[in-house]
Amino acid sequence: MECAQVSDSEVFPVPEAWAKRALMDAAGFEAATRRVDQDPEGYWTEVAQRLDWMQPFTQAKDVSFHREDFHIRWFADGVLNVSVNCIDRHLPERRDQVAIIWESDDPEVYDTVTYGQLHAEVCRMANVLKARGVRKGDRVTIYLPMIPAAAVAMLACARIGAVHSVVFGGFSPDSLAGRIQDCDSRIVITADEGVRGGKTVPLKLNVDEALKDCPGVEDVIVVRRTQADVPMTPGRDAYYSELKKTVSDTCDPEPMNAEDPLFILYTSGSTGKPKGVLHTTGGYLTWAAHTHELVFDYRPGEVFWCTADIGWVTGHSYVVYGPLANAATTVMFEGVPNYPTASRFWEVCDKHKVEIFYTAPTAIRALMRDGDGPVARTSRKSLRLLGTVGEPINPEAWLWYHRVVGEERCPIVDTWWQTETGACLMSPLPGATPLKPGSCAKPLPGIMPQLVDADGKELFGAISGNLCLTDSWPGQMRTVYGDHERFITTYFTTYPGKYFTGDGARRDADGYYWITGRVDDVINVSGHRLGTAEIESALVANEHVAEAAVVGYPHPVKGQGIYCFVTLKADVAPTDILQAELKGWVRREIGPFAAPDVVQFAPGLPKTRSGKIMRRILRKIAEDDLTNLGDTSTLADPSVVDDLVNNRVTA
Ligand code: WTA
Repeated sequence: MECAQVSDSEVFPVPEAWAKRALMDAAGFEAATRRVDQDPEGYWTEVAQRLDWMQPFTQAKDVSFHREDFHIRWFADGVLNVSVNCIDRHLPERRDQVAIIWESDDPEVYDTVTYGQLHAEVCRMANVLKARGVRKGDRVTIYLPMIPAAAVAMLACARIGAVHSVVFGGFSPDSLAGRIQDCDSRIVITADEGVRGGKTVPLKLNVDEALKDCPGVEDVIVVRRTQADVPMTPGRDAYYSELKKTVSDTCDPEPMNAEDPLFILYTSGSTGKPKGVLHTTGGYLTWAAHTHELVFDYRPGEVFWCTADIGWVTGHSYVVYGPLANAATTVMFEGVPNYPTASRFWEVCDKHKVEIFYTAPTAIRALMRDGDGPVARTSRKSLRLLGTVGEPINPEAWLWYHRVVGEERCPIVDTWWQTETGACLMSPLPGATPLKPGSCAKPLPGIMPQLVDADGKELFGAISGNLCLTDSWPGQMRTVYGDHERFITTYFTTYPGKYFTGDGARRDADGYYWITGRVDDVINVSGHRLGTAEIESALVANEHVAEAAVVGYPHPVKGQGIYCFVTLKADVAPTDILQAELKGWVRREIGPFAAPDVVQFAPGLPKTRSGKIMRRILRKIAEDDLTNLGDTSTLADPSVVDDLVNNRVTA
């Protein structure tokens, strides 16, 4: 692999044609940024006018990040329905426009769903849910592969005011059970099986396994994907294809308050079990739609492809809600980047005339390994704009994406955001912002980033620090489901009065931001967010394990790899077989994407005298940065470090 060196100063100017055609050029961007500063209420009111409100709101923003008076409310007395905004309002002009292009795992098979068909299907699913007793505010767990039914299920919940919790199909039965229990949902929508990269995923069997621990679940709706013969529990399980025959294809939308919950999405934090990030109706949809238009310079009817799975926030905001609210044709891809060949992404772009393509750096890095050939043999003529999300993109990968995939014609928007932020917060705008490879450029108008030191003191100028946001935006999460106190302590107490992102960042002399990665115990593996604490608790649940400490280390394709230090119980021998067994164990406990890259057996872990594990040292060992272990004299037993260093395992 060629390693181009890029300095901060390498800048790709806005192509002239883009500056001309863009919805927002450099002057427009400056004007909007100034406007929101001078007249926030007016600016945000205008932004929210992009939605159809059943009843207008009287106040846009009502927020305090201070504990005494903590609240986050946007457009609070407005009334709307998300499914109406994503479907019904487009029908007069776009009934026959394709809303969803479904590209199956098999390159020979695809399907399309028009807005008219989507409307009928969402109404049917909504009626099925109602017939099963689902009411406004009830939680519905969705555990589906990347098939149109997944978008339909989400929108059906939105139509009747139920709160969906989508669980990524790669999660294990155990992880699924935890998520079902946490939000207390009594209904699960799943499929017989999923299909990815030519292999099947036993979704229904996983649900059956999970439900052994979820006595509260009374209904399982099964969508047929592979027609596999799966066990059906009488009285509990039913096929959607049967249920939908019994209902009508119209369903009145539930009028929802802007601050009514829209969905819960579980995400990993630095401690404890995953948090149920809760997003609400008006603010979330406003932000998803607004950023989708702004960042991707999106016009209705253009073919937009975000490769993310709907099990992650990127899939929520940029496969389903943002694009559909903007009358898009959105591509939904069931497969993986390198199946059947490393040309797949680009073949799909050619086949469906994709204009805007949005993916994760890890996919780009993986494809880059196969060289230019698999890309060059495709046309990609339809592509105008490229995007990345989920993790920092190294300049080498950025340049390859720009030169080989986009043929230097397509700007790249490197979008920084989080599950908690609902949609994008920092990104270049293709018609306004010169690009620097590896930088997410600048905050969108209305977003107020601040770098602070460890004590929370604001840092000015070109400098690195911890990334906070000093003010709210409509798409901000509102609470951790069922634990509002955890929401406040997790995000607003490290630096009182500010939202702390958990990310570190550098700001350069031009005011561009460069995300350096998490500063907490969250790791980002192939763009999938994981808490090291979750992997540790999976490991210690194994009968042979006494103690475990998990850290991330730089990985050439995955961004970060998973390195586990494991102390075995006294009578257990550290064998290669056990090493492999523990990797498989974590895979089964959490999901395949969480499988450790390295397991190192350690007779002891480096602890302070008060018993705290010194992760800094473990990180250095995992990174193979052994000359720089820092001060080990405060350890209870400094000799454990020598053992760890001598027995370091290479991935
Ligand atoms: C990281 C995904 C660098 C970051 C949308 C953040 C990024 C975490 C970028 C959130 C980017 C996301 N550049 N890092 N463009 N985008 N991240 O919740 O560490 O799955 O905190 O949301 O991903 O991950 P999450």
